[in-house]
Amino acid sequence: MSETAFLPQPARDALELFPIAMRDGVKYASGMGVAWAAGRVNLIGEHTDYNDGFVLPIAIDRVVAFAGRARSDNIVRLWSTHFQKYAQFSLEELPGIFEQQRSTLPPWVRYVLGVIAELIHAGAVLCGFDAVVHGDVPVGGGMSSSAALEVAAAQACMLFSNGQFTIGTEGATLTPMEVAAVCQRAEHMASGVLCGILDQAASCLGRPGDAILLDCRSLEYRYLPFDAPDLSLVVIDTGVRRELAASAYNERRRQCKEAVQMLREIIVQHEPENQSALAIRALRDVTLEQFARYGHRLPDPWRRRAGYVIAEDARVLQAARVLEEGAIEKVGPLLWKSHIGLRDEYEVSCIELDTLVEIARQVPGALGARMLGGGFGGSTINLVRNEAVEALQRMVTREYPARTGQQAKIDTCKAVGGTGNRWVT
Ligand code: GLA
Repeated sequence: MSETAFLPQPARDALELFPIAMRDGVKYASGMGVAWAAGRVNLIGEHTDYNDGFVLPIAIDRVVAFAGRARSDNIVRLWSTHFQKYAQFSLEELPGIFEQQRSTLPPWVRYVLGVIAELIHAGAVLCGFDAVVHGDVPVGGGMSSSAALEVAAAQACMLFSNGQFTIGTEGATLTPMEVAAVCQRAEHMASGVLCGILDQAASCLGRPGDAILLDCRSLEYRYLPFDAPDLSLVVIDTGVRRELAASAYNERRRQCKEAVQMLREIIVQHEPENQSALAIRALRDVTLEQFARYGHRLPDPWRRRAGYVIAEDARVLQAARVLEEGAIEKVGPLLWKSHIGLRDEYEVSCIELDTLVEIARQVPGALGARMLGGGFGGSTINLVRNEAVEALQRMVTREYPARTGQQAKIDTCKAVGGTGNRWVT
């Protein structure tokens, strides 16, 4: 068995492409290496991460991979198979020169630049490299292609800087959660979306056969078995991407922060003897009972935003209990409820996502479905009995284009994601 046989397919493809894409006689400082990181689906816990809440993602069998060689200078040169474009930037004067460099680079490179700027900011000593970037995480499809790109870039930097990757004093390497935090900040800088830690953490922590229950406040996590040979995780892409997503995302984040302040004031006023009320600093700290008692005092839309998040957090914990019992089917009803909250209270769905969820509802054996990720387009996630996958596919093909004028793309994914890097020559 060759030493590349166990690599994810995109990593092997990228390795093959490297000599074709980069054949201008640069003198390299290393042999060939590959780095890769997985995309994710989030079983449940949408828009809870930046509210200090809980999420339950799974890293899937889709990756972004880098294949390349270290250079003896400070240049990073990339070839993207998806965009069919080269891009190049210098490590010189990063992170100081980040904004200036960012404005000259296309969006996909900004994520890589952001990761590198953050690593250097954290004290890493990096060297330049040439790499082919290749993957099978659908771009913009709700499976976190940007987080997979960021985490793969961090993995590539660690590999190509070959031991010079030191952060802190004692030659320490980064923990997976520290890598996730670096990549989250890179995403903020690259895209202006003030995302939570969900996507990057899922990509860094994911391992085969498991979902990850992550507490986004303490950053503690626990693996829960996601072992369901009779069930499929079906991801259906609406085919729709909306520009407004970034500003609407940041607006939801702001509204949640404002709702926390309002709720704290109301609860402190009504329960002056309740010491814990003063410690409320995120929606995570407001209980379902407190919200039932005081939520109606919030104006709209803050009431609906907060109501959704508090209920979704409770659903995540319920889903985690169900996984622990090995009763994955029982997650289904929670998915329908989550979607209704995202649609009516959090208002991050769209007609195409709603239509896909409604179609799934009509299929016996589709146990639950909801929109996936940030919203306003992208995909739905569906928990479906294996024998019902075909029926769902038929129903979507028949009804979705007629009802929306769009084409959907159906895919199944598996909980086999992971991240890594290695030298191959
Ligand atoms: C996007 C963000 C995540 C998370 C989800 C919604 O994917 O990147 O941090 O907030 O939306 O759950």
